[in-house]
Amino acid sequence: MSTRSIPEALIHEIRERIDIVDIVSSYLPLKRSGANHQGLCPFHSEKTPSFNVNSSRQIFHCFGCGEGGNVYSFLMKIEGLSFPDAVRRLAEKVGLTVPDEAMSPAEEKRREETELLLRINGAAAEFYHQLLLEGDEGKVARRYLRQRGYDAESVRQFQLGFAPERWEALARHLQEKGFPVEAVRDRLGLTRAGKEGRGDYDLFRGRLMIPIYDVRGGVVALGGRVLDDSLPKYINSPESPVYHKGRVLYGLHTAREAMRRLGCGIVVEGYFDQMALHRNGFPHAVATCGTALTPDHARLLKRYTDRLLLLFDQDKAGRQAALRAMEVMLPEGLSVAVVELTDGDDPDSFLVRHGAEAMAKRLEAAKPVIEYYMDLTLEQCGDGVEAQARAAEAIADKLRLLKSDIERDLYLRTLSARTGIDAALLGRRTAVAVAQSETPPPAPRLPVPTPRPAVRPPASGKLERAQKTMLRMFLEGQIAATELASDDLEALFPDSGWRRIAVAALALAAEERPLVDGLQERLEPDDLALLAALLMEAHEALLDEPERLLVDCRQVLLKHHAEARRRQLPELIRAAAAAGDTGAEAELLQELQQLLKKKL
Ligand code: UTP
Ligand code: MN
Repeated sequence: MSTRSIPEALIHEIRERIDIVDIVSSYLPLKRSGANHQGLCPFHSEKTPSFNVNSSRQIFHCFGCGEGGNVYSFLMKIEGLSFPDAVRRLAEKVGLTVPDEAMSPAEEKRREETELLLRINGAAAEFYHQLLLEGDEGKVARRYLRQRGYDAESVRQFQLGFAPERWEALARHLQEKGFPVEAVRDRLGLTRAGKEGRGDYDLFRGRLMIPIYDVRGGVVALGGRVLDDSLPKYINSPESPVYHKGRVLYGLHTAREAMRRLGCGIVVEGYFDQMALHRNGFPHAVATCGTALTPDHARLLKRYTDRLLLLFDQDKAGRQAALRAMEVMLPEGLSVAVVELTDGDDPDSFLVRHGAEAMAKRLEAAKPVIEYYMDLTLEQCGDGVEAQARAAEAIADKLRLLKSDIERDLYLRTLSARTGIDAALLGRRTAVAVAQSETPPPAPRLPVPTPRPAVRPPASGKLERAQKTMLRMFLEGQIAATELASDDLEALFPDSGWRRIAVAALALAAEERPLVDGLQERLEPDDLALLAALLMEAHEALLDEPERLLVDCRQVLLKHHAEARRRQLPELIRAAAAAGDTGAEAELLQELQQLLKKKL
């Protein structure tokens, strides 16, 4: 697997030379508090700090949202990097190099191509930018922009450009720079093949150019706007290995920090809307690139904030877009509100006509998207009893999208008050919609029963505590590996996460390596977050008697395991009998008898 192809020792050495406190401090202020450093969590919005960084263990954990891990996890999460890229980034910082052989040849090729494509797009953006800033050809575009209130400084700020009315301006320029024509044409679509032996010609001609960046500031695509009313208004780079419009948000690379700082983001529909907001002091705005919001967009945004304002055009299309966005964003657990402007406006025209202060008021007055939907639906359905009932049903169904049942309940009451329909009746409707939206598990094929199926209900409460206590004692050296190794790990650790950590820790113990440190190189991010949570929690004080505590924990877990197995066996026996597997049937029967005997 690629994430593990960088040598473990190197990953370790880089981590050794870095202090997680320094890295985290460069993103948010930390204050010392006991053994930890604390700050406001950058991964969810909060008013009192529950984000903890532990310098001696070099891990972090947020008691509020559960994010956690080591310095690599932090960087991956906050910068949206892959694991290898996070390692590379830190390697650079400490002056170590990650050998490229660490990548598979296929990965290496992909990385090289990505770099090339970004360089080409970057060169194109710069070429267009210069043509806009100086020279006669750019005059028309400069005049157009001046009319919209953009001076040279804002042209620089957004690296705007101008594609001249020539057929081969960019094609020639890139060729002179030595870029391969195939990449320019076939991979990026910046040029197209000319007919009958003529050279490639430019995609963008006579347009105002807007570079589109990824989160790291690489130019992944370009958008080109006409300077008059002709159509199409915009032409954009086609999808390419570096550009998937469903995964890119215009302006995110500059907006993300502001989103974090302000605890909220704004989503608009147009490039010009985004630029207008930034120019007017709303740096937390991003735009979709001519496409509806996708679940990928929602997840991308969620890295930076969990509260979003939808600021769409005030027309029918904009309203529909807001409702579609609701379907995508609520299931991701984002809190979403809709901003309403004067009818017919878009954010840009509203700012031109009413200014930043008026905009700020509108943002403040944003309506939770469900309420927006409720208002819209009830307004549109008219007064007829039947129409009202249909509308109420539709709204009750939609409430399924809410993650919190408290919120759901609040809206049910509002809906009931507004329609006069009994809240309990509406609630049943919502409950059905919730049940239906939960994807049913795939129908099991009738299995020939294996003697030891691993499926178990997730442990909670007592079991969770027992697993964590044992693991913690082991990691702290209070009990020996043999105490755990000699047992059935599936029984001792019914939760797969804790079990994976135990397995990895046992392997490290067998290699006589330090456990907590070694685990950091071996665990996948989710498990690492679990580990960080475990280590940050106060360890129950019973350190004098680890042996007795161990006995108690084991008893709880083994008893639970036996009971679960006993409940499961009759079904397995029936299935074995049905499948005609008499050997398995007998074996399972015997197991059941033994379990029953033990219990007596
Ligand atoms: P708009 O027509 O609202 O454009 O389309 P705009 O950005 O507000 O531009 P101005 O203010 O009229 O100059 C919204 C977005 O939809 C995409 C673009 O991303 C645009 O910013 N779009 C629109 C296209 O991709 N192609 C089109 O032909 C039109
Ligand atoms: Mn617009």
